[in-house]
Amino acid sequence: MSAPTRLLVLGRQGSGKGTQSCRLAKALGLTHVSTGDLFRREVARGSALGRTVSTYIDKGALVPDDVVIEVVMNQTADLAGWVLDGFPRTVAQGQALVNALGDNGIDLAVELEVPVHQVVRRLSLRRVCDGCGATSVAPTDDDDIRLCNACGGSVARRPDDTVEAIELRLSNYDRMTGPLLIWLDSLGLLVTVDGTGTADEVFDRLHAVIAERLLIGDEIADAPTTG
Ligand code: AP5
Ligand code: MG
Repeated sequence: MSAPTRLLVLGRQGSGKGTQSCRLAKALGLTHVSTGDLFRREVARGSALGRTVSTYIDKGALVPDDVVIEVVMNQTADLAGWVLDGFPRTVAQGQALVNALGDNGIDLAVELEVPVHQVVRRLSLRRVCDGCGATSVAPTDDDDIRLCNACGGSVARRPDDTVEAIELRLSNYDRMTGPLLIWLDSLGLLVTVDGTGTADEVFDRLHAVIAERLLIGDEIADAPTTG
């Protein structure tokens, strides 16, 4: 039996990590693990973890390493293969993952490269339904609350998609995740993929890179490119 596939998807806030990780996971039969989605679910449930992390995520700050590392280790322990979206974000988190999995435990880390002005626009237009979780794009930045066509839930800006929180998140990416990218590159694990263009175009680029690096082209080539 072949070893399970383990992929990391990194990239600036709004670069399309969630959009592309979801497609990749479906295409490869892997589990999509998003630390941001997981924390938001805990906040919505009002759990102790949710109360701990909400003070960080609402203002756009990073959740402390020890909290995130414990959550991710628990979530991935029993999974055969995964696409990790949004973890690691610091060198300490990356080292914890490598220590837990061993030297060959990560197959590839993909960084989606999208310029700052484009991610700021994407984030300012993003709206999320509090009922079904569907993401949509608002026609203008000042278009705020409306009802979801699919479930009737409330469609609104994510709490960390304010101007101030976006600024902090992006500065943390350079300051905290920049060194992680250098470290992953030194391990020979990092590839950078152009994240601009349509979601289908980005997926096709990811497909090409992952197929080449992991020699699993047929599985992805057969997968639908929408969704
Ligand atoms: P998280 O939820 O991971 O947020 P993020 O990193 O800020 O990234 P986003 O989810 O905003 O963007 P994305 O890259 O997923 O893009 P998406 O596909 O949605 O984390 C939230 C918070 O949790 C963190 O700030 C932190 O507090 C905490 N946290 C999480 N992990 C942590 C960790 N490891 N350590 C510490 N703290 C942690 O796309 C964005 C928008 O663009 C959408 O509207 C989408 O429809 C649109 N879009 C996507 N692709 C395209 C395209 N090709 N063209 C046009 N629009 C596109
Ligand atoms: Mg996301």
